[in-house]
Amino acid sequence: MSEHLLNRRQFAAGCAAALGLASPAWRAVLAAAQPAARTVKFPDGTVVPALGQGCWHLGQGRHPGEVEEDALRTGVTLGMTLLDTSGNYGGGRSEELLSHVLSGARERIFLVSKVEGNEVAGDGVARACAASLARLGTDYLDLYLLHWPIPSAGFPAVVAAFEQLRAARKIRSWGVSNFSVAQMEDLLRVPDGHRCATNQVPYSLNNRRIERDLLPWMRQHDIPVMAYSPLGGDKHLVIGDRTLAALSAAHGCSPAAVALAWVIRSGAVIAIPEAGSAAHVRENAVALSLALTPADLQALDAAFPAPTG
Ligand SMILES: NC(=O)c1ccc[n+]([C@@H]2O[C@H](COP(=O)([O-])OP(=O)(O)OC[C@H]3O[C@@H](n4cnc5c(N)ncnc54)[C@H](OP(=O)(O)O)[C@@H]3O)[C@@H](O)[C@H]2O)c1
Repeated sequence: MSEHLLNRRQFAAGCAAALGLASPAWRAVLAAAQPAARTVKFPDGTVVPALGQGCWHLGQGRHPGEVEEDALRTGVTLGMTLLDTSGNYGGGRSEELLSHVLSGARERIFLVSKVEGNEVAGDGVARACAASLARLGTDYLDLYLLHWPIPSAGFPAVVAAFEQLRAARKIRSWGVSNFSVAQMEDLLRVPDGHRCATNQVPYSLNNRRIERDLLPWMRQHDIPVMAYSPLGGDKHLVIGDRTLAALSAAHGCSPAAVALAWVIRSGAVIAIPEAGSAAHVRENAVALSLALTPADLQALDAAFPAPTG
């Protein structure tokens, strides 16, 4: 993903060029393409949109496959070009669904997948990556994450395996997920540990736990956070809240857009909401250009207090 995401004129020209090359499934949605607004920079200088798309439940029958594919393509055209999946989502079915969306659009997408802690022994990272690439129908990942922490003694081998994949151009960068401050500190002590691009952790209005220590630590080390379950997740969706309803009415958008704009407000957090329909995606994409006022932020702080202590 390059800096051209920031430039509206270049983005429009790119879309026009892409229209000529695109498959029929992409052509209709590309015609309505909009530029991304808010972006986040990784330590290596790569710029991505502050809003991506989560893919945990996709390809598993929650919605018809074509509807989910249409949702993802709609999101991409609206600037949500970062797609987050994992080798273990639906036993690989999420990645398989994504292969259809990537087809004809790979270079426009910033693709994130994950390896599990119980897969990393021996040459397990390389094997898991190869399996993900095969399911995705691509020859590289933009970002490969260790899904859950393993004991810190295992960090050097995993980092070395990630670095080998990077040297072989199978991945462009790597990071971690669900790491605490102590685990991040251990990681940065490992050779090449400083190349960690992000830590993907839960963060939403109704789950502000990382504000206590991890968020300031990440900020201090200039490593962006990738916020999962940014709407609170399936079981604790925030969107029914009264304050969100009032703010969304004032801004003429959905409560989901306000909730997501709050998550990405700092410029150092990427949110990856999952949406199974183009209608939800369109609502969410508004967050990319929604500026919350100091009064809005105060109202949200009152409704969803920051953690204390
Ligand atoms: N690294 C990890 O350990 C980890 C853990 C959990 C999740 N993740 C990643 O984070 C992504 C998102 O997390 P999540 O799925 O837990 O939570 P989420 O994005 O906070 O919530 C997803 C739910 O929000 C609904 N939704 C989306 N947009 C909406 C809108 N505009 N209005 C109303 N409802 C809306 C979706 O319903 P519809 O499907 O009907 O649109 C779905 O039920 C996952 O897909 C995955 O990629 C990573």
